[in-house]
Amino acid sequence: MRKKIVVGNWKMNLSRKEADDLVREISQSTSLDNNTEIVFAPPFIYLDSVSSVCLNRQFFSTAAQNCSSYSNGAYTGEISAQMIDSLEVKYVIIGHSERRQNFNETDKVLNLKMNQALKNNLNVIFCCGEDINQREANQHFDIIEKQLSSTIFKLDIHNFKDIIIAYEPIWAIGTGKTASSDQAQEMHSFIRSLIDKRYDNKTGSLTLLLYGGSCNASNAYELFSKEDIDGGLIGGASLNSSDFISIIKSF
Ligand code: PGA
Repeated sequence: MRKKIVVGNWKMNLSRKEADDLVREISQSTSLDNNTEIVFAPPFIYLDSVSSVCLNRQFFSTAAQNCSSYSNGAYTGEISAQMIDSLEVKYVIIGHSERRQNFNETDKVLNLKMNQALKNNLNVIFCCGEDINQREANQHFDIIEKQLSSTIFKLDIHNFKDIIIAYEPIWAIGTGKTASSDQAQEMHSFIRSLIDKRYDNKTGSLTLLLYGGSCNASNAYELFSKEDIDGGLIGGASLNSSDFISIIKSF
C-alpha cells in the first residue's frame, strides 16, 4: 500500500517567527495515522531549524525548494545538495513551474539538479504540468509525457524509486482554480501508466503521485479520495495552520 503524503511548499513567504509558530502549531496539534507523512518545504534560511524540529517527530520531514546543479565551489549564492543532505533534509523539489518560468530552468538544468540530489541521498519531488493554452488545445497528455521523458524517465529503475511526482497544472497554481478531481485522477492514472510502460507495473504501483494547484481545505478530501492521488503539494494553504491541518486530515 502506498503511503499518503502532504507537502507544504511555503515558497518565499513567512518571517522567522511565523515559520516557527506554523511548525509548532501543526506538529503539536495533529494526530496522524502511521501511513501519512507531512513535509515542510520552507525557504532555505529556515530549513535547518525546521529540520531539527521534524527530526524529533515521527511522520514529519522536510524538503528544500531547490538545490544547485553544481556540486560545490565558486558559485556565489548557491546551495548544494550535499549541504541540504547534511541538515538531514529528506527531499528536494525540482522542476516547479515557477523555477522553470522565472529562473529559466531547462530540462538540462533539471537533470543536473536531479543527479546532484540523488547522489547526495535526497529524494526528489519532481513537478510537471501543462499551461492553460496546452490544456485548452487538448495537448496536456503529450506535454506531460514529454516533460517526464526528457527528465525523470532517463533515470534507471534503481534511481527512480527515489522520485515522487507532483502533477501541478500551471493554470491551477495560486489561481484558486483547481483541477477537478476527475481531471486530476485522469492525469495521475495516465502518469502511472507511463511509469508502467517505462519501468514495470510494480514501479508504477509503488510511485507516489501528488496533486498540486489550489488544493485547499475544501477540495482536498475529494482529490485525495481518488485512486491514483497519493496526497498533495500545497502552496498557499500550507501557510495557515488550520487550513494545512484540515488538508492533512483529508485522507
Ligand atoms: P498553490 O501552489 O497551492 O498555492 O496553488 C501549489 C504549488 O505551487 O506547489
